[in-house]
Amino acid sequence: STLPPLDLNNVQGDILAGLPKKTQTYFFFLIDKSRIQEFRTQLANLIPLITTTAQVFGHQEAISKNKTDAAKHGVPPSLLKISGVNIVFSQKGLTKMGINDNIGDAAFSKGMLEDAPTLGDPGTATSDSPDWVPAFKQGVDGMILVSGESHSTVAEKLAEIERIFFVGAPFATIHEALRIVGDVRPGKEKGHEQFVSLLSPQESQPLTSDHSFGFLDGISQPAIKGVNLTTNPGQESVNPGVTILGREGDLNINANPNVPIHRPSWALDGSFLAFRYLFQLVPEFDTFLKRNPVPGLAPDHGSELLGARMVGRWMSGAPIDLAPTQDNPALGADPSRNNNFRYDFPDDAQTQDRCPFAAHTRKTNPRADFEALTPESKPVPGPLSTSNRRIIRRGIQFGPEVSPEEARSGKTIHGRGLLFAAYQSNIENGFQFLQQSWANNPAFIFGKPVSPGFDPIIGQNAAGARSMVGTNPTSQSTSLPLPTWVVPKGGEYFFSPSIPALKTTFAL
Ligand code: HEM
Repeated sequence: STLPPLDLNNVQGDILAGLPKKTQTYFFFLIDKSRIQEFRTQLANLIPLITTTAQVFGHQEAISKNKTDAAKHGVPPSLLKISGVNIVFSQKGLTKMGINDNIGDAAFSKGMLEDAPTLGDPGTATSDSPDWVPAFKQGVDGMILVSGESHSTVAEKLAEIERIFFVGAPFATIHEALRIVGDVRPGKEKGHEQFVSLLSPQESQPLTSDHSFGFLDGISQPAIKGVNLTTNPGQESVNPGVTILGREGDLNINANPNVPIHRPSWALDGSFLAFRYLFQLVPEFDTFLKRNPVPGLAPDHGSELLGARMVGRWMSGAPIDLAPTQDNPALGADPSRNNNFRYDFPDDAQTQDRCPFAAHTRKTNPRADFEALTPESKPVPGPLSTSNRRIIRRGIQFGPEVSPEEARSGKTIHGRGLLFAAYQSNIENGFQFLQQSWANNPAFIFGKPVSPGFDPIIGQNAAGARSMVGTNPTSQSTSLPLPTWVVPKGGEYFFSPSIPALKTTFAL
């Protein structure tokens, strides 16, 4: 190819490295219609604040050195003050700015609200996504991500950004549409320790350490060839074009993978971000586990196993394909083992002895199951590999811990959930496909002796009820009806431009 090699100084930092975060603010904005030129002029002043991938990798090294130095002196590592800033735009935002080239992604161009029926969100027409919050129904032009090690660092950084655009003043060029704060949950590893260990470069992907419904999240990420130079056992390496526009592997495998996607030149080294505002009914989920333990075990063990069989991992992160009957926290915490499985044990393909076909991790990354599908049973042409379906997940939790009252009553009082954020070069191949064609499709994974049912965590059935089979390993075709525990309240598809594109095409 005639392209210059991928330069990590050109790519915004959240995509390939992940902004360092204990807390992150998502600032959704509307560009003032009468001040578009001024906004684009001021945008030039934001660019120096934007954290690049190269800078995030630099931060990670500094944190690691700080940790090693502290250990040498036998003292706890000090908390380094660190922040990160990225900016992304919706199609509405591009159009408002007068950037009218077709970027080559139909889902992005439509926007998520119009895509909501495709994703299975309740409501039949675009005007009728009853659960969505007003800001996302009205649409936003863009979002600024600000992350940091503390709320005060993020507040300082955000104030600096607001000054650039005179936010709040009568002559402001952007207006706040919605502000959502996400926090890494307080875990076993508290405070300094946790943040520092989060960013250790020994982990080939920085973990967000989210616990969704109490489950360790952010374990399985694809490694990007040429960027993540060390990989953990079992971690799949994918071409940069699976995530980054215009690079090797940027294909539309839903259409014809041999026809290159036509992209404007400024799209190079950008990425699409699918953002979803997902509320989780945690006390209700916990109550369901309590009431429906896998039979034949002590009740607590049976409830834990049910949760593990719905997710595909125990709360500790241990994959049930490797630890089918009993949690193994050491396995869950060990990056050299916790992703080293493929659903390819001899009993895996046709039975759910180890893992239900519909488990969340198996539905959203079927590993060997997918490669085993014959071309005829595959719904779309293209290479038989999951690699072009991989997304990079950068979400964070929002909302308070479950209160004693909520735990007692089994009813949610305070809103909480996951700020789901995933990068890919093609939304229809990535997030949209995983949600629509895998999680929401009871027939997937194809070629199994029973129809697997819905992804119990995120699968949606706008037309009716949900269920799955395989939660009980001794009665694998027994179907378990599933209430809904994840409620999408909005979101948007965004484009994260490269630094050169911001300089030459977006800013004036
Ligand atoms: C993995 C929870 C939404 C795609 C996981 C894991 C957990 C989890 C606990 C296991 C940790 C890991 O393997 O890294 C949740 C919860 C969600 C949610 C509670 C909603 C509130 C989504 C959505 C998608 C998605 C909307 C995409 C449509 C994935 C993928 C993996 C994963 C691709 C990695 C599977 C693998 O490679 O083995 N999720 N998730 N998740 N999730 Fe989700």
